[in-house]
Amino acid sequence: VDHPLVQHKLTIMRDKDTSTAVFRQLLREISQLLAYEVTRGLPMTTKRIDTPMQPMDAPTLDGKKLALISILRAGNGLMDGVLELIPSARVGFVGLYLDDRLVIAVDPMLATGNSSVAAIDMLKKAGATNIRFLCLLAAPEGVERMKEAHPDVPIVTAAVDEKLNELGYIIPGLGDAGDRMFGTK
Ligand code: URA
Repeated sequence: VDHPLVQHKLTIMRDKDTSTAVFRQLLREISQLLAYEVTRGLPMTTKRIDTPMQPMDAPTLDGKKLALISILRAGNGLMDGVLELIPSARVGFVGLYLDDRLVIAVDPMLATGNSSVAAIDMLKKAGATNIRFLCLLAAPEGVERMKEAHPDVPIVTAAVDEKLNELGYIIPGLGDAGDRMFGTK
């Protein structure tokens, strides 16, 4: 997502001098902007309404309510913002009964891809057939791993960074997303 607001907010989040409070606020804002992008192309229908002027067939979302799945722990940091934009979404953790609804799996950092691939394996076992993956930052290695394991799952991210380091951190990245959002370091 190359929108200027997303990129500007991400830069402040990457800065090591940004406080936990500001990081959390920006995470909430950026997750709304990413939610806007990941839901682009949802099926639509129309419904008959009355404006004060006349009746009209107005566009509305079609189909089942979608499900949001958080990959713990850092995934929880994205949930609040996404839910502000999609307040009627079902919220779950892996284990929910999923059937044919659209599932958006959220995890801020797509690094090695191991946990995301495993979570999506579990979502598919739970019956999900229509999955999108939302993250804040991705490493090329993680994108590759996801594309190999789950080529049917589109990835929406604010940036694809340069690489992983030997500890599995994204470079330049923003550090440990969980520590930064929960203030644990
Ligand atoms: N998880 C993080 O929080 N940060 C990284 O850089 C990689 C994985």
